[in-house]
Amino acid sequence: MQVFVTGGTGLIGSAVVAELLGNGHTVLALARSEAAALAVEAAGAEALRGGLADLDALRGGAAQADGVIHLAFGNDFSSADALAREVAEESAAIATLGEELVGSDRPFVTVSGTPYVPGRGSTEADPLPTDGPVGGRGRAVMAALGLASRGVRSTAVRLPRTVHNEGKGGFAGMLTGIARRTSVSGYPGDGAQRWPAVHALDAAVLFRLALELAPAGTSWHAVADEGDAVRDIAAVIGGRLRLPVEAVPPETYGTLGPIFAIDQPSSSTHTREALGWEPTHPSLLEDLENIQP
Ligand SMILES: NC(=O)c1ccc[n+]([C@@H]2O[C@H](COP(=O)([O-])OP(=O)(O)OC[C@H]3O[C@@H](n4cnc5c(N)ncnc54)[C@H](OP(=O)(O)O)[C@@H]3O)[C@@H](O)[C@H]2O)c1
Repeated sequence: MQVFVTGGTGLIGSAVVAELLGNGHTVLALARSEAAALAVEAAGAEALRGGLADLDALRGGAAQADGVIHLAFGNDFSSADALAREVAEESAAIATLGEELVGSDRPFVTVSGTPYVPGRGSTEADPLPTDGPVGGRGRAVMAALGLASRGVRSTAVRLPRTVHNEGKGGFAGMLTGIARRTSVSGYPGDGAQRWPAVHALDAAVLFRLALELAPAGTSWHAVADEGDAVRDIAAVIGGRLRLPVEAVPPETYGTLGPIFAIDQPSSSTHTREALGWEPTHPSLLEDLENIQP
């Protein structure tokens, strides 16, 4: 397939581009800068210049493709307003890509997070949250899944809190960044809350499988580790950076404080059984050993 990919220069998107090219697909990648265009071309993809707000570019990319994988997101969690702007821009982009595919039966793979379910690990059958600071992302993905009834083979790959590669990425990557800045490897609360994780190279395989195989309107969990206690994550980070490992106030994490405090394990049993997906790359705690002091 010729696949239009947004976010193809990111931690996950670069793995997805490589996975697609390595499995006989061609890739047209959205690139919002010269640097991004050079990066995707060096990876073997063709660049389409434009950003998420360039709705004509998105329409043009989707029109040329046999399928679309959307991964671009600004990831600006610095304030509630900044996050709301990012969510609004992405929601308009998802709606535009989806409308372009209506009536074509072409695949449209969107991305979201694994849901949080009090008292147990979440499964693929649990609904996405549609309220809270990132609720708009859930609503946009639900709307895309709803296009299944209008001739789009839309699917959602739900990612765990940390998608990592070489010790970097996701919530664990944010803990590392804060530890470097504050000289404490902190965790909120008692640190017993669990976060799920996956290696980016394993997640990339699931994006390809969803593109190739998944029925319209379905959701999948790219979960390799069902849940690591946050204090165990902080302990590896502290060990690598030679910093003390301590509880810190939730405010340390700004808008993400309440989300960081929650026990939110997740499973991928259905995904593994139905799509034959099997993670093979290092676990989060193993991969964090790659952090350089
Ligand atoms: N990493 C995780 O642990 C994790 C966990 C759950 C969900 N996710 C989600 O997975 C997706 C990919 O995450 P990631 O970790 O790969 O992110 P990332 O490394 O920060 O990459 C973000 C990608 O989006 C592109 N992008 C950002 N804003 C854009 C805009 N306005 N227009 C066009 N492109 C734009 C970036 O392009 P440039 O190269 O031009 O900056 C880059 O390719 C995001 O939706 C993220 O929220 C990630």
